[in-house]
Amino acid sequence: MIITEAAVLGCAAPAKINLFLHVVGRRADGYHLLQSAFQLLDWGDTLDFHLRDDAQIVHRNPLASVPPESDLCVRAARLLQREMQARGQTIQRCEIRIDKQLPMGGGLGGGSSDAATSLIALNHLWRAGLSRQELQEMAVQLGADVPFFVFGENAFAEGIGEKLQAISTEEAWYVVLAPEVMIPTPQIFSAKDLTRDTNHIKIADFSNDAKKLRGFGKNDLQAVAERLFPAVAEVRSWLEKFGDARMTGSGSCVFCRVEDEFHADVIVKSAPVKAWKAKTLKRHPLAQMLD
Ligand code: C5P
Repeated sequence: MIITEAAVLGCAAPAKINLFLHVVGRRADGYHLLQSAFQLLDWGDTLDFHLRDDAQIVHRNPLASVPPESDLCVRAARLLQREMQARGQTIQRCEIRIDKQLPMGGGLGGGSSDAATSLIALNHLWRAGLSRQELQEMAVQLGADVPFFVFGENAFAEGIGEKLQAISTEEAWYVVLAPEVMIPTPQIFSAKDLTRDTNHIKIADFSNDAKKLRGFGKNDLQAVAERLFPAVAEVRSWLEKFGDARMTGSGSCVFCRVEDEFHADVIVKSAPVKAWKAKTLKRHPLAQMLD
């Protein structure tokens, strides 16, 4: 990462996987109450931010499928601008460029991670001075997964994903496979056959020994996603040959913990669809900006 007075370059926006994801209830507004373990991976998007004084928020390379106004990075920047305005601070502008690696509709938190990285990097570049807690509280307006990335550590999440407690997880290599489908999250959560009454678990069930997270729980969204998008089931059953293969988030990506980098390389080479290897991260690469 390069930080100057006028730019913050090479900011990581890492992927996450949900080691388990339980749906334990539903709020009156339709959002679901979850219990999930979020794991950061050392692979993801990279963003550059430049100050500019001749325009508002400019997205240099928006994705063809996402209008700049609904892009989560642009929305994150506008949200921070509004907060600064409310605090009587001078409004700042910037240019954003993204090197996009994470698939969309993949359950890896790509858009959410980009948004969190935008909040953290612009908070620094614009000298907004918001604390991690303040950014986390704003972040939920951008999406249920965004507070986790601002939190910056592997976490046990509750509520709709915004109530976070740090957990220690095992250092490990994972293989992630991307079935060729983009899954819209609302379609999975609104399915009639979704199980919404999984029993509550306690963080103490796994927090005293990270090994207990191996194979712990399940992903309640997986059965629905596999019924609606059979490609997910096909790819997951291929990956099952190598261990406990699960879907992350609302899909479509599936992951499996592997013994080491060598095994990860072998699996990635033989995978029937796009595949990546990734190592666990203990902390978000930008976390130090909020210390
Ligand atoms: O917050 P996010 O944009 O990630 O959520 C997308 C959609 O997924 C929401 O509009 C909602 O329909 C559903 N969702 C939910 N419960 C959650 C998270 C998301 O019902 N905890």
